[in-house]
Amino acid sequence: MGELLYEGKAKQVYLTEDPTVVMVHYKDDATAQNGLKRGTIAGKGVINNRMSNYLFQFLEQHGVPTHFIRECNERDTLVRRVEIVPLEVIVRNIAAGSLAERLGLPEGTILPSTVLEFCYKNDALGDPMVNRYHIRAINLATDAELDTICSLALQVNTLLQQRLEQANLTLVDFKLEFGRYNGGILLADEISPDTCRLWDTNTHEKLDKDRFRRDLGHTEEAYAEVMHRLGLEA
Ligand code: TMP
Repeated sequence: MGELLYEGKAKQVYLTEDPTVVMVHYKDDATAQNGLKRGTIAGKGVINNRMSNYLFQFLEQHGVPTHFIRECNERDTLVRRVEIVPLEVIVRNIAAGSLAERLGLPEGTILPSTVLEFCYKNDALGDPMVNRYHIRAINLATDAELDTICSLALQVNTLLQQRLEQANLTLVDFKLEFGRYNGGILLADEISPDTCRLWDTNTHEKLDKDRFRRDLGHTEEAYAEVMHRLGLEA
């Protein structure tokens, strides 16, 4: 492996011989509440690597440009080296988590239209929510970049909802990150039960990181169940 470029909460990023390519390594570490809660979810790195790569390839096939290049092994993947746009882009179909709390909506309330939110990726500030005006004023992205990001996020939502519905999973909400590459915008980071809320469509059982965040137990089993339903094996 090349030199460590960056270490995040759940992943490491390594340089490769090609300056336009980096290697992502998925760890089992998990954090919640802005780093206050720490732990590990055994086997999570393997599952998130496989699942994210599967979903990125699925999205590519349906016209969404992503950073994905090639899976190397069960925890390592080659991706294009992008400049991350410092925004967490959150897409919501059903009220849950911080939105349910902020707006006083019971968790599970169906939102009649999709909600897009942005948070400024800044650990020291606790990733504050920002809107278009903040993004423009502090120069986090250009208006053209933000338009592309919004339209890609909504396209990803439609495609993922359809694919997950086939697995009897309801896509409640999720977080995306985008990167600049060659003058354009690519979908980056990951899509996994760490970054999505996924409920069993019939029982509404939580099959995602909320099991860890809320100490519900059986987190490993929930991640494995999502893999299994997508026809993937860890
Ligand atoms: P929230 O309800 O806590 O704002 O989370 C909304 C969605 O975004 C949920 O699917 C979890 C995901 N998310 C992340 O992946 N990383 C984050 O740092 C945050 C705040 C949310």
